[in-house]
Amino acid sequence: MRPKLIVGNWKMNGSRAANAALLEGIVAGLDGARAECAVCVPAPYLQQCEEALKGSPIAWGAQDVSAYEGGAYTGEVCAKMLSDFACRYVIVGHSERRAYHLESSGLVARKTLAVLKEGMTPIICVGETLEEREAGQTFDVVGDQLGTVLELLPLDAVAKIVVAYEPVWAIGTGKTATPEMAQEVHARLRAQLKARNGEAADGVAILYGGSMKPDNARELLAQPDIDGGLIGGAALKAQDFLAIIHATG
Ligand code: G3P
Repeated sequence: MRPKLIVGNWKMNGSRAANAALLEGIVAGLDGARAECAVCVPAPYLQQCEEALKGSPIAWGAQDVSAYEGGAYTGEVCAKMLSDFACRYVIVGHSERRAYHLESSGLVARKTLAVLKEGMTPIICVGETLEEREAGQTFDVVGDQLGTVLELLPLDAVAKIVVAYEPVWAIGTGKTATPEMAQEVHARLRAQLKARNGEAADGVAILYGGSMKPDNARELLAQPDIDGGLIGGAALKAQDFLAIIHATG
């Protein structure tokens, strides 16, 4: 049985004062939680996370990474720098980066390798737009996004990744995929992982992201191939993030 994993994606939100209150609130409310949990924060706040969360059950991470190991890449942050702040997770290929920064699945695959090389866990985001879903292209789109990464990964690395299915039309909209819709895509992704890596794929966590909230989390997390959540808006309020963490049973 895979442990559930709940990851907060703060996106471009936070301040040192607000972060301190949020992190303190989450740590204080974790008692009895059975899920693994983490927060992925803007890079300037990684040191604050390390100081506030060290020794707690909460891991931390980043929301992006350079595909390069270092050098003349102004403004970029490489995996070794993230590892310097004891990051455990790095989100790669989030739909907002694919859209706003024209990130290709090939670039996402190279970023995935960079994260694995530093011993961190990549959270590889895949998801279709509303137009693609309405055109019946969901499985093709998410299958290509994941497939491009898997083609570049050594076989033994597949067991070290996390995948997040985030239907673009559900992100930040309040329009959550139904548990059945989400499970259907998760099962396809699981089958794709199994085809590449056999039974080891059973250990790969596939998270759902896209308006997961306290009132819908339990039903989503009860699905056999939904192993956790990648949480945006609800991660910015300790009470809501804790409600989702405790909804894992
Ligand atoms: O990466 C998680 C995020 O895209 C989901 O956002 O606000 O719909 O929970 P939200």
